[in-house]
Amino acid sequence: MLEVKSTTGLVALIGYPVGHSLSPLMQNAAFASAGLDLVYLAFAVAPPDLPAALAGLKALGFMGANVTVPHKEAVIKYLDAVEPIAARIGAVNTIVNKDGRLTGYNTDAGGFLRSLREAGFDPAGKQAVILGAGGAARAVAFALAGAGCAALTIANRTLEKAGCLAAELTGLKVPVGACNLQEEELRPRIEGADLVVNATSAGMAPAVEAVPLPAAWLNSRQWVYDLVYNPLETKFLRQARQRGCRVISGLGMLLYQGAAAFTLWTGKTAPVEVMRNVLLKATGEPM
Ligand SMILES: NC(=O)c1ccc[n+]([C@@H]2O[C@H](COP(=O)([O-])OP(=O)(O)OC[C@H]3O[C@@H](n4cnc5c(N)ncnc54)[C@H](OP(=O)(O)O)[C@@H]3O)[C@@H](O)[C@H]2O)c1
Repeated sequence: MLEVKSTTGLVALIGYPVGHSLSPLMQNAAFASAGLDLVYLAFAVAPPDLPAALAGLKALGFMGANVTVPHKEAVIKYLDAVEPIAARIGAVNTIVNKDGRLTGYNTDAGGFLRSLREAGFDPAGKQAVILGAGGAARAVAFALAGAGCAALTIANRTLEKAGCLAAELTGLKVPVGACNLQEEELRPRIEGADLVVNATSAGMAPAVEAVPLPAAWLNSRQWVYDLVYNPLETKFLRQARQRGCRVISGLGMLLYQGAAAFTLWTGKTAPVEVMRNVLLKATGEPM
């Protein structure tokens, strides 16, 4: 049982909603395992209340916070500093409060890359297609471009958003294209890809029957990564596995973005296996 004392340090999750988040379970288990007198609490903060919530972090002396949908981009203008990778991505998911100064970081991009490499895929020199152009797709796109991908395609339901993200990536010296999800545009790009990343919310509970594209477009030499982790194996990932693709679920990215945030707040190496086991248990996977 967690013992909250008058000395206990505080870390927040700020989002809207936050009830679905596995981060409180994961981070509190990590703090306990590392013997730290810290507690992680989730706060549902409606968009108009975001500046007050950040002022509250300072006033109440929180050590830091995670930031989730829909605040990852909006939060930037209320911070005292933003580290370069987060500034380039244009999204912050972790805040550190040092002596009343709030600094923003993005651990989603590094978390994605670490999980991809752990699974056995090195993006250097590879062709990748990212489905989606929202906050998660931004982090994935900058991560892959920074890791030396040979070419990237951003494919999104709303073409304009894909075009904007592709334009922002042009300075990174990786050829980047943009298209919509229609077969005539997307299928040839999918067929030529080494890696396909679903960074849309298609397939996320409760709409578990949705898929971002037909599995018939995939082939067995490809890797397919689905950022969705609820359910752990989406319909898209199951179909990709049945086509012979190597598949990766969103759990690893969730784990490693959390591990990096833990280190930013505490200065310590995160107890990754404790955190992984909490996530596997919470998502109903055998350990
Ligand atoms: N594993 C992790 O650690 C991790 C981290 C972050 C996010 N995620 C997951 O990644 C997903 C996206 O998150 P986000 O923060 O980027 O959300 P977001 O900013 O709201 O963006 C959602 C994206 O999904 C697209 N989309 C939504 N429904 C769709 C559908 N039925 N068919 C095709 N495209 C659809 C949207 O297209 P339009 O632009 O056309 O609307 C947009 O590109 C979520 O499922 C989230 O849980 C996982």
